[in-house]
Amino acid sequence: METSLHAAATAAAFRETPAPFAGPAPGPAPLLNVSGLTKYYGDMLGCRDVTFALWPGEVMGIVGESGSGKSTLLGCLSGRMAPSSGQVAYESERFGVVDVHRAPEPVRRNLLRTEWGVVHQNPRDGLRLAVSAGGNIGERLMAVGARNYGTIRAEALRWLREVEIDATRIDHLPRTFSGGMQQRLQIAANLATGPRLLFMDEPTGGLDVSVQARLLDLLRNLVSRLGLSVVIVTHDLAVARLLAHRLMVMRRGKVVESGLTDQVLDDPQHPYTQLLVSSILHA
Ligand SMILES: Nc1ncnc2c1ncn2[C@@H]1O[C@H](COP(=O)(O)OP(=O)(O)OP(=O)(O)O)[C@@H](O)[C@H]1O
Ligand SMILES: [Mg+2]
Repeated sequence: METSLHAAATAAAFRETPAPFAGPAPGPAPLLNVSGLTKYYGDMLGCRDVTFALWPGEVMGIVGESGSGKSTLLGCLSGRMAPSSGQVAYESERFGVVDVHRAPEPVRRNLLRTEWGVVHQNPRDGLRLAVSAGGNIGERLMAVGARNYGTIRAEALRWLREVEIDATRIDHLPRTFSGGMQQRLQIAANLATGPRLLFMDEPTGGLDVSVQARLLDLLRNLVSRLGLSVVIVTHDLAVARLLAHRLMVMRRGKVVESGLTDQVLDDPQHPYTQLLVSSILHA
């Protein structure tokens, strides 16, 4: 009952707030400061010379065709992949400003468990499919020191409700879940430790349109209510339009255009962005 009321309220708020919504006013310091980020796989280019800042509460979309370097960039931003050159500085609550790729490995791992969340395109990469839904959330809580079984279970139930998964599924294995439910569980497990920064790689990819719409609605609501900062990779401009304040358009490893989402999509300057936008209009 509560869930459906919540969903109805979210849907109403969504209708009343036409996308794109205004981004947050820049805070005193960026959360991420990225400069000259470059990654080669041998002599294959992954991404090249990417520079930008992400402010608290901001949602940055990375769009571009397959192979343009989106996942490579996301991997380097979140410290899971070492760049060939360049820097990612993160303003941590716990550690102060962290030079992500020069920090000791335990610091990176700690950030990934606490202040950051990573939502993978394939839920298999972000969930343990042989561990129950509640267990997936509980493991993340235990990694930050939670020990009390009752508290962990209550938190797991709370987060399942947040992502609209029925409480009766708490002891079920995620492999018995639909693709959309697996994505929602992945999001719940990430949010349970209260991260401030989420990295998401095609979180709605591979889902059918109605499931996608519900997931987007949910994400949009959680992001604004929790004041999260997000870097989201998508090749879907409609997803970018709904969620992102700003966009970076990538092609062959390089950012060819960036700016406020509505500006980029309504008045694209680069011929490649114009092509991307017109291919959607004429699809
Ligand atoms: N492990 C790897 N080894 C060698 N080359 C790689 C590797 N991973 C990615 N690449 C190359 O780097 C480039 C960027 O790939 P990346 O996966 O970042 O693109 P993407 O924009 O995420 O594509 P998609 O939308 O298909 O996920 C591509 O040319 C790809 O072939
Ligand atoms: Mg990718």
